[in-house]
Amino acid sequence: MDLLLILSQEHDKLPLAELRAVLEVENIETELEVVCPELVILRNLEEDVFDDYYRILVRRLGYTHEVHHLIDECGYEDLDDAVKAIDWSNFIDENFAVRVKRFNTEIDTVATERRVGHLILTNTENISVNLSDPKSFVRVVAHHDNVYLCYGRYQLNKKYFEEMKPHKRPFFHPGCMSPKLARCMTNLARVKEGDLVLDPFCGTGGILIEAGLIGCKVVGCDIDWRMKKGTATNLDYVGITDYQTHVVDVRELEMYEEVDAVVTDPPYGISTTICGEGASGIFSEFLQSIEHSMKKDALLVMASPHTLDIDSLLKDVGFILLERYEIKMHRSLTRIISVIAKIH
Ligand SMILES: C[S@@+](CC[C@H](N)C(=O)[O-])C[C@H]1O[C@@H](n2cnc3c(N)ncnc32)[C@H](O)[C@@H]1O
Repeated sequence: MDLLLILSQEHDKLPLAELRAVLEVENIETELEVVCPELVILRNLEEDVFDDYYRILVRRLGYTHEVHHLIDECGYEDLDDAVKAIDWSNFIDENFAVRVKRFNTEIDTVATERRVGHLILTNTENISVNLSDPKSFVRVVAHHDNVYLCYGRYQLNKKYFEEMKPHKRPFFHPGCMSPKLARCMTNLARVKEGDLVLDPFCGTGGILIEAGLIGCKVVGCDIDWRMKKGTATNLDYVGITDYQTHVVDVRELEMYEEVDAVVTDPPYGISTTICGEGASGIFSEFLQSIEHSMKKDALLVMASPHTLDIDSLLKDVGFILLERYEIKMHRSLTRIISVIAKIH
């Protein structure tokens, strides 16, 4: 069985990197086909785990807009026959809507929606069309001359990423990371439900919220007691209960328990406090101090400013760079996201 994913184009590499990381950590065996930058198909998923995998992807991914069961695909000229050949009673419950999304093609989306909707309606008993609040959702994706007929069983919670904007949380401080990027970084750390995630520069708790929402236990530390308190307030607000927060200078951090991952956004020395240190100094001391708090296979996913030479910092410590992504923030700042492992 196949899943079709529509990826966000907010970044050219991160959505796919995030997807690959989730497939890896959740042991989802599949063949990944990139149709175009926005479209990915996961082929040959086992039927007995298909639904579980579908739900995991919908629950975890930040930079993916939609995940659908791909029922069939055909050339645009064969669309009518393909729609008629599907037993839609297996997918549609009471009422439905058809929506078309097109990529690199000029097909008439409204006409195609009407045509597919009409064919489904005339070939299936006891169903009706409901465009405003459908119980079942049929997604038709057109790419060049091909059409993908999909059924959307589970919806990604798009509203969450809109409503969870940092300024809408009870504790806000400038310099917060966007929830989508925080979710993506957590996924890049290849953590699973029940894993222990540490953010030693937790600020308002944005990264820990995302780790907590995918079921991780979280520990947040910050040198500033107001941040420690604010992180706890924000974690309580979203209903995360399995957490600890501490006031600690990262240079003195001693964890009682080694963690499964460190996901963090240290201060860049631009607007956030670094307590008298240059950015390079705090990063270097952080990298030296954090290693012994991490399990052997734990990953460190870290944001940093482009002005910082991470490679030369890593040379002096027991870490190796696995992946690196650039996010242009504004004219004078590019954020670097690094996925770093311990050298065994
Ligand atoms: C860029 S902010 C983190 C933002 C966070 N990702 C968020 O979404 O709110 C960096 C944080 O590091 C903290 N900090 C600065 N120096 C520190 C140190 N030596 N040890 C621990 N925390 C420190 C600051 O108080 C600040 O809250």
